[in-house]
Amino acid sequence: MSDFRIGDEHFLLDGEPFRILSGALHYFRVHPDLWRDRIRKARQMGLNTIETYVAWNAHAPREGEFDLSGGLDLGRFLDDVAAEGMHAIVRPGPYICAEWDNGGLPAWLFESGTVGVRRDEPQYLAAVSQYLEQLAPVLVPRQIDQGGPIILVQIENEYGAYGSDPVYLQKLVEMNRRIGLTVPFTTVDQPTAQMLEDGSLPSLHKTASFGSRSVERLATLREHQPTGPLMCSEFWDGWFDHWGAHHHTTSVAQSAEDLDDLLAAGASVNIYMFHGGTNFGFTNGANDKGVYQPIVTSYDYDAPLDEAGNPTEKYHAFREVLAKYGSVSGPAPEAAGPARTLDVPLARSVALSSVVDRLGSWTPREELPSMDSLGRYTGFALYRAEIDIVGPAVLEIDEVRDRAQVFLDGTPIGVFARDHHDRSIALPMDARGVLEILVEDQGRVDYGPRIGEPKGLIGSARINGEPLLRWLVLPLELDPTEGADASQGFSGVITALSSVAPGEASVVSGPAFALGRFDLPPVRAGQSADLFLDTRSWGKGVVWVNGFCLGRYWSRGPQHTLYVPAPVLRESGNEIVILELHSAATAASFVPAPELGHTDF
Ligand code: GLA
Repeated sequence: MSDFRIGDEHFLLDGEPFRILSGALHYFRVHPDLWRDRIRKARQMGLNTIETYVAWNAHAPREGEFDLSGGLDLGRFLDDVAAEGMHAIVRPGPYICAEWDNGGLPAWLFESGTVGVRRDEPQYLAAVSQYLEQLAPVLVPRQIDQGGPIILVQIENEYGAYGSDPVYLQKLVEMNRRIGLTVPFTTVDQPTAQMLEDGSLPSLHKTASFGSRSVERLATLREHQPTGPLMCSEFWDGWFDHWGAHHHTTSVAQSAEDLDDLLAAGASVNIYMFHGGTNFGFTNGANDKGVYQPIVTSYDYDAPLDEAGNPTEKYHAFREVLAKYGSVSGPAPEAAGPARTLDVPLARSVALSSVVDRLGSWTPREELPSMDSLGRYTGFALYRAEIDIVGPAVLEIDEVRDRAQVFLDGTPIGVFARDHHDRSIALPMDARGVLEILVEDQGRVDYGPRIGEPKGLIGSARINGEPLLRWLVLPLELDPTEGADASQGFSGVITALSSVAPGEASVVSGPAFALGRFDLPPVRAGQSADLFLDTRSWGKGVVWVNGFCLGRYWSRGPQHTLYVPAPVLRESGNEIVILELHSAATAASFVPAPELGHTDF
């Protein structure tokens, strides 16, 4: 049992001044069998604490559910932290930002349209209270005063950049206390007077988020947190990427210097990120300040430990800095060598249209429904309507969230892209037949007022100004863990693919599923056990390996490889499934190293 508190000048661990040297590592972005490895490497860099957010929507994908299994086993993660002799900081949100789908808020919370998030609103607070109660058995016994690793818990996240509701913050504090949290509570805000004030309460310890000009930022923080330890709760050492933009990197020397300045000023730190990991599946968030910008699959972040868990130049530079302020012992871990290379024919493929009925059921609606209103919160939905037009025709849709491929009797007509603000598309002359619109939710906005927006086709659709009615909509069930029998859901797709003779009907252009099977040569000494899947010969889509969703790929870049963590692989009988939306995926190739794309210099 230990005691951790905030003193007049320092954090105090059992009464002694303690400097937090923390690194951010999100359990939900790393395969659980790799948690321990990543945590150990944080310790070896000279850190004494691991910080993680809790992603509410990952645990509660549907109302009434709460999943703490497998990659969501937060208790196991915190036990791994403790087993490495490190402390933990937990940031349960409920809002987390983090470039994560919807900033961590469950989409179902927004469905009624009457729940007021991130403020003092009874329905929202009731849901938050339930969420925190579900976390209580995981967090409460793992606090430092009960023999666990947790030393701090953060309330909300950069709330000053969003709202100004002290009653809400106070109620959150009370709820977190009520479930049994006893450790000190903090807030984090960008270091401006307004944000630091609106984002916190006098009873909470204020900390700041920044990635440069440490001394100046700490001085601003000091004005608003006159006593106690100074802490940068998010020292941004890299940045995230959007599809269609460049890959962000930061100067190693400059980052190390800014970290040094921060520590020389006596502050505590949480390096954001120590190890970024991956937005597996459909978990990425998006930004929208007038233009919608979805986050890529990799969350490498140009962090000291790269996406595959290898120490980078930044790792070694930070380790040198940290050695001046804490204890760094033993040799630094080594980076793994190149990964195994392999070309896998995707010998079997089926058109999405031929298996779509296995992926869900059609719901008839007079008017266009959003995906959310059909109970589907991520991925894809297929919309169908019959049309019969004489002469030229223009299809208009009020809003597409976020990308829609339009087909007439199976022939591709064009794409609506939210980031281009597309609202209309010309149909062929005398358009007659089945109009199909395949819509992809490319990730919910995670920052600012657009969190919670419904996905799919929004508003109404018109042809030549006349409302287009009588829709059939099928949200695609693409989660391999769902679906009871082998003919339905994702397993149904695999069954359909398996029944195609290899080579037969093998070149089906998108939207289509393709399947390949492969064995792996043993890992040689020094070689990486992970794989990097090259996506450069494909257009846009999603990939699964052995039922584990690696995430989205897109020829737009900047990211051109997908990370395949070793624990999802086996020696023989691996299965790769691709949903390619445009081109024909005929082969998959695994390359020695990741390609996260061009930088801006
Ligand atoms: C803010 C948020 C984090 C993250 C970073 C940018 O600091 O608090 O969740 O979004 O920005 O990576």
